Amino acid sequence: MGVVGLGAMGAGIAQLAVEAGLETVGHELERSRADAAGERIAHFLTRKVEKGQLEQGARDAAVARLRLTTELSDLADCDVVVEAAFEDLAVKHELFRALENAVAPDAILASNTSALSVTEIASVLERPERAVGMHFFNPAPLMPLVEIVRAERTADDVFETAFALGATLGKTPIRCNDTPGFVVNRVLIPLLNDCVRVLDETGVTPEDLDAGMRFGAGWPMGPCALLDLVGADVHVHASEALYEKLREPRMAPPPRLVRMLKAGKLGRKTGEGFYTYD
Ligand code: 3HC
Repeated sequence: MGVVGLGAMGAGIAQLAVEAGLETVGHELERSRADAAGERIAHFLTRKVEKGQLEQGARDAAVARLRLTTELSDLADCDVVVEAAFEDLAVKHELFRALENAVAPDAILASNTSALSVTEIASVLERPERAVGMHFFNPAPLMPLVEIVRAERTADDVFETAFALGATLGKTPIRCNDTPGFVVNRVLIPLLNDCVRVLDETGVTPEDLDAGMRFGAGWPMGPCALLDLVGADVHVHASEALYEKLREPRMAPPPRLVRMLKAGKLGRKTGEGFYTYD
């Protein structure tokens, strides 16, 4: 398996692959970013050993299954490549064109896009039937769901292979179509936007809103903590993409989040969002 783009999502997906016993090639543009992802994966696997969830030998074997590279040509032997690059159609187009040249004719190209159309991403391929969506959730190693997205021209066997791969990676796969936000983000993005608007409308603190949704609605974490985990940049971008397609006002990013984005308060990744982090 190949994973292209080793940010939080890509590193998490690569971790799942090596834990599932798949020889995995992880690609990043810069060596330092590839190494950082390798360290992140090794760290989380070590934590599993420390907590008694994984044998030391299994951890070492998993780490050894990961090969890091900055060359797309190193993906030549992959049966499936999952793309988890920056959420920009032009970036994905350039990458998919290059990937199609790098891999075997029957290799599957899967996109982890959260808010772009898989059909549009695949439109630059000579064989768009090899493209499919595999949308994981943050943090990928912990969240049990993967949305398997059938694009306009996805071949049946490609879809079923991606579905089976989701299960191999330990996830619960669901069958989705290439509609804006697929299933979960179609619901979750406007819901999180509502939560941010409620902050301003009601004057409650992020702490109280989070406690409200955790203890009154059973959410595993509050909406502000979740937005800090996802990142204001990722969320605003996904909101804009959905708003562009559906034109529902609730889809548009709330001004408060846009201000946070402009101020560099992206959440955990910058040390400050709704909350501050060490
Ligand atoms: N990768 C790998 N392992 C990780 C990790 C990561 N990113 N983050 C944490 N872990 C491991 C750690 O080892 C941690 O243990 P440690 O602290 O002892 O080292 C262990 O997981 C457990 O972490 P927590 O104690 O924080 O676990 P919780 O029981 O609190 O659960 C949670 C954490 C699963 C994140 C839970 O709070 C949850 O379900 N939150 C909701 C998350 C959610 O809704 N995600 C979806 C976001 S939307 C999205 O992704 C769509 C996209 O398109 C934008």
